Amino acid sequence: MTSHSEQAAEAGARTSGTTADTAETARPIEQPDAALFDGIREKAAQVVARYPQSRSALLPLLHLVQSVEGCVTQAGIAFCAEQLDLSTAEVSAVATFYTMYKRRPCGEHLVSVCTNALCATLGGDDVYARLKERLGVGHEETAGEPGTPGSITLEHAECLAACDLGPVLQVNYEYFDNQTPESALELVEALQRGERPTPTRGAPLTDFKQAELQLAGFFEGRDSDIAGPSASDETVRGARIAAERSWTAPPMPEDAELPPVPEKK
Ligand code: FES
Repeated sequence: MTSHSEQAAEAGARTSGTTADTAETARPIEQPDAALFDGIREKAAQVVARYPQSRSALLPLLHLVQSVEGCVTQAGIAFCAEQLDLSTAEVSAVATFYTMYKRRPCGEHLVSVCTNALCATLGGDDVYARLKERLGVGHEETAGEPGTPGSITLEHAECLAACDLGPVLQVNYEYFDNQTPESALELVEALQRGERPTPTRGAPLTDFKQAELQLAGFFEGRDSDIAGPSASDETVRGARIAAERSWTAPPMPEDAELPPVPEKK
């Protein structure tokens, strides 16, 4: 099983000391590239309008800029800051905290293999190792030119909340359950040929940038984007058996003592 520290060490070993990273660290703050983000300005305004306080729109806005560049660049950070009247430091703090915001451009597809405890013991590490060998890349690296057809970014993922279906992987955050090294290899080779295999559950497969647009809340009028089944038989089996046998949880006593709710500051 690959531990978190080993994953971090792998990522660190791949990136430490490279000229690209040194340049990235020292890169000056760029101003928003008007032309680059012109196509999403109206959408950005719609995202901001969803919330009583504009800063609450930051997470979907970061997905929106990622739908343009396939990652969150300094220009994307500056664009978000400008839309939300935040500093670039505030936006950077959020963008670099969450792993779903990518620092480098992703491939046409993002393949996330769960190598957390349960999936790893069920074969997730073997799935990851086979894909790593086939693609010739490691964690957060891309086989092919990022963004071009057939390019694939590979990454370790922490628990994807589908432990009953492990080992699982996701392509652009859509689930492919009960994987083996062989099935995962077939899946990735199909993606490289330009095919869009049907996920086990959830919406039809698209590409990474389109998935980012959906995560920002834009479904472009395609009902099918959200029409797929979301729960597997395994996941709901316990609830179904309980319903069939009329099992219910005991009601909470009327006089149950509840812990005090801390005051919000
Ligand atoms: S450990 Fe893989 S989905 Fe939970």
